[in-house]
Amino acid sequence: TDRYAVFGNPVEQSKSPTIHAAFAAQTGQTMTYSKQLVALDGFSEAAEAFFAAGGKGLNITVPFKQEAYSFAARLTARARHAGAVNTLALQDDGTILGDNTDGVGMVQDLLENLGWQIRGKKVLVLGAGGAVRGVLEPLLEQLPQHVVIANRTIDKALQLAKGFAEMGYLLGCGFDMLEGQQFDLVINGTSASLAGEVPPLPNDLLTADGHCYDLMYAAQPTPFLVWARQHGARAVSDGLGMLVEQAAESFKLWRGVKPETKLVISELRDNLT
Ligand code: ATR
Repeated sequence: TDRYAVFGNPVEQSKSPTIHAAFAAQTGQTMTYSKQLVALDGFSEAAEAFFAAGGKGLNITVPFKQEAYSFAARLTARARHAGAVNTLALQDDGTILGDNTDGVGMVQDLLENLGWQIRGKKVLVLGAGGAVRGVLEPLLEQLPQHVVIANRTIDKALQLAKGFAEMGYLLGCGFDMLEGQQFDLVINGTSASLAGEVPPLPNDLLTADGHCYDLMYAAQPTPFLVWARQHGARAVSDGLGMLVEQAAESFKLWRGVKPETKLVISELRDNLT
């Protein structure tokens, strides 16, 4: 039986085994998918051992996505641009391919599941860490009018904007520079929610058509989505759909078949605690 796993630390909370088990059942694929707690200094050793023992593919979560990027013998273009890998796949020639399906998962969720638009929209991305880096290229491919990246540490926003400048019209700034600007789509990629916080945002940040998306998800609305509702957002969503969509893209890379996601998303939603 083909073996897959998710590597992380912590990893106990991971929903990936549930998601991939649902995909496998739905598509009639014979495979196993487990979660593995990897020591903070033990990623490459553990990955080597996994593939040496016949493993076919891995998902990589916090804090190993950069190490997985270095581990992969070959990279997809989107993984190269993201500087991070969330999917490793054993290739027919025995090499390990690194991919990043986070960004395409987010875009898929926005466009297909939620029915939102990106093309021609004024987009604001909050945060300039690994999560944001991972979604920028697929976002820019959808041809938004422009993308502003706002971050607490301005320099990181500027660096990120510079790094992706060839792929679209984007600008980096600090939160205090958002005063007077309005956006159709605001994507929260900061980890501020973990501390129960929202970045300091102006009250009139959203256009009349403002949509707000949080890369994080939770059983209760995230602090950012609470802020969004209070400030007139037309629609809001957390990132649970993105989680399932990035998994579906990984599954497709491994198995060559793209699973249906809608039912899996709604089942996960019903079971969130
Ligand atoms: P991740 O992999 O989740 O992106 P990261 O690379 O550490 O993690 O990035 C975390 C992001 O959340 C950063 O943009 C960080 O801002 P700084 O670059 O200024 O550190 C942002 N962040 C974390 N806590 C925040 C808070 N309380 N308010 C605003 N931004 C916050």
